[in-house]
Order: sequence, then structure tokens, then C-alpha cells
Amino acid sequence: MPVRIVIGAQWGDEGKGKIVDLLSADAQYVVRYQGGANAGHTLKFDNTTIVLHLIPSGLFNGNSKCIIGNGVVIDPIALVEELEEVQEHDVDLEGRLFISSSAHLILPYHKVLDKVKEKSRGSDAIGTTGRGIGPAYVSKVSRIGIRMDDLLDENALNSKIRKNLKDINVALENVYGEDPLDADKMIEELKPAIEKVKPFVCNTSQKLHQALIDGESILLEGAQGSLLDVDHGTYPYVTSSCPTAGGACTGSGIPPLAVTHAMGITKAYCTRVGNGPFPTELDDEYGETLRKNGQEFGATTGRPRRCGWLDLVALKYAVQLNGMNELALTKLDVLDDFDEIKVCTEYELDGKTSRVFPLDTENVEKATPVYKAFEGWKSSTRDISNFEDLPEKAKNYISFIEDYTGVKFNIISTGPKRSETIVR
Ligand code: IMP
Repeated sequence: MPVRIVIGAQWGDEGKGKIVDLLSADAQYVVRYQGGANAGHTLKFDNTTIVLHLIPSGLFNGNSKCIIGNGVVIDPIALVEELEEVQEHDVDLEGRLFISSSAHLILPYHKVLDKVKEKSRGSDAIGTTGRGIGPAYVSKVSRIGIRMDDLLDENALNSKIRKNLKDINVALENVYGEDPLDADKMIEELKPAIEKVKPFVCNTSQKLHQALIDGESILLEGAQGSLLDVDHGTYPYVTSSCPTAGGACTGSGIPPLAVTHAMGITKAYCTRVGNGPFPTELDDEYGETLRKNGQEFGATTGRPRRCGWLDLVALKYAVQLNGMNELALTKLDVLDDFDEIKVCTEYELDGKTSRVFPLDTENVEKATPVYKAFEGWKSSTRDISNFEDLPEKAKNYISFIEDYTGVKFNIISTGPKRSETIVR
């Protein structure tokens, strides 16, 4: 049975939530493997819109078991808010949701550190979501992190929080000039959330290993995107985890050789939130139209997204980096009204053209995109669910991308609803 990783092929916000929701109808397990509540996966069905930040997007389609894997960093207060929202939609989470005992916690001090560090960076700020992601991964790799299994021993948990806070308060007061945080208050505030989260904690790697033995179908859901990967993205303007395919294995406990499919999700154009290089960014009326027609505002922070043409140099890099053998194209309908649509096929750098995505951010910043222009199809693709019904010009656009990347689109999305999808 397939073990499929669903990965953002750009800078996040590619519409992974919708694709995971669709694919999860046939999956026995859906697993989030990295990131935290910085993600916002929007699902639309039956007149319902729900934005999930931590819970896998497989919860609402079929009966798949949903796992929050060891690679995710979990803010218990944000998780409880989400659990309550989901329960309002009559979803019974017992036997459906499992949280890795090895996943690390985001504690209130991580969120405070995220904000003060961003403030102190001034004009070099990353533009983080402020959800404490970077500082929580710092705690993890510094081996002072607190894991979900620590929730099971209250005394040990509280003494770890106190110990960590001692050091953090020194930094807050002396480096950042902020007030220290009160450990007792923090522990009290966390208590109710911890009690609600505890029953879901278990050994999720073992569950997945058994699922592999039983030949069950597993979907691994990435958050953010390949170009935000801490190793392979536009460092330092990245998130602090590995959304790429390798991260799916380390973040879940699934061995690499068990993976059968790597599906990349790309929008028909590009967006980015936060700071950092974006070669095809449009600071003009076209960018404005993409933002307006595509409703390009952050699902987590509400920030307007930066918008631009599709960047095939970056997409091809993502395909190679992840070994993508499937692609899904989202938001094709957002291009319906354009007279002309462009795609970047090469970068011009120091007088030379190249199809290689530079590994150093400075060169990505300096790259001038070389474009190929397509005539717009100027008709609505909204609601189309059969490939043959697409306008010829849209089909040409799609096949150009397929030829460039060497990968076919299995799924083309023409609107936010489940029904607005072409499956090939
Ligand atoms: P952090 O993950 O909050 O530390 O933010 C680091 C960078 O990743 C910032 O540029 C964020 O805007 C970006 N980022 C984090 N999560 C998402 C996401 O889900 N979609 C798009 N960008 C994201």
C-alpha cells in the first residue's frame, strides 16, 4: 500500500491541506511530521471552512487515524484550542488522534523568545509567525527540550520548566531588557491544557511500524515548503525544521525505503510570507491581482502574502530535492482573468543564465528571472473536474510545466472545494 509524502514545492501555502484532505479518504494513517502551529491548513467542505494548525488534515475525510509525529513542536494551549474547535464539528477524537511521546513542546517562553529575538534583529528580521517555532527547535537540539512524555510526570515536568526558565530569564533581562517570566504562573496556566492533551500521547513510531507490516496506506503531511527548509531553503529566511522528504522520515519514524510516493504541491503562481529572497515577486498591479483573486492572506497570521509568477527554476529544484514523482497544481483558477501569464524558466546572474537554484541566499536575491510568456485563457476554470474540459491555453500552460519538471500533475485544483478538483 502507498506510503506517500505530501510536500510543499514552494515557500508554503501551496494548498496542501486541501490535497491531504482529498487523499486521506483512502489512507489509514495521516501523519504531520514537522513544524508546529506556524502552519495553517485550510479545509473547505459542506459549507464548512476549518483551518488546522497542528492536527493532520486527514481528520475530516474518511476514518484515517491522525498522528502528530515526533518531528512536530506542539504548543499545548494552541492544540487544545484546535481540539475544541474540531470537537464542535462532531468529530470524536478518541481512537482517531495520536501524539508522539517524543514530540517536543512549545512553551510560553519559546513564544516570548521568538518575539523578542525578532524585535532585536531589526531590519534583518526573518518575519516569523511568532509561534515560538525557532526557539522550541533550539531547545530540542540543545537537549533541554521538554517532550510529550514529560507530561506524564508532573513533578519532573515542573522542575524542568523551572530549570529552563532560570536561564531564559537571565537572557530576557540582561540581553533583551525584558521582564522575567514567572514559573509558577506559567505552570498553573499550562495545567488544564496538559490534562487535555495527555490521553493522546503514545508511541506513534510503533503504530506506524505495525501499519507498515499490515500493508496499510500512510500519508505523510508536510507543513511550510521546500524553500523554507532549514537545510535546503533560502537560509536564514527559513523555518526551523525540514519540510522536505527526508524530514518526513525523521519526523515520523517511517524508514526511507518504505516511502513509495513523493507528491509535490505547487500553486499555478508563487507566494511567500515573511522576509527573504523571491526572484519572481511582482510589486505591481499583477501581484495585487494575484493577492486579491487568490485571497493570499496568511491562514495563521493574516499577513498579506507576497505574490509573483511561477518560478520553474525553484520548482525543478524542489522536484529534485524531494524526488517528487507526482505533482499537484493548485489555484489554477486564480489565473483565469489574466491576458498574459508568465513563468520563470531561467535566472540571469552576473551576465549568465542558469537553470540551477543557487544555494546561497545572496545569489537568489541577485537573480533576475527570465520569463516565458503565455497568452491567458480568459475563461473560468472554476468547478472544472475533467481535464479535457480545460481551455486549450490552460492545458498548454500545464504541459509546459510538466515538460520542464519532468513530472505529471496527478491532481489539478480549480477552487477551494473538494468538488473543484481534476484527478488524472
Ligand atoms: P517560523 O516558522 O514562524 O519561525 O517563521 C519562519 C519563516 O517561515 C517566516 O518567513 C514565516 O513567514 C515562514 N512560515 C512559517 N510557517 C509558514 C507557513 O505555514 N506558510 C508560509 N510561510 C510560513
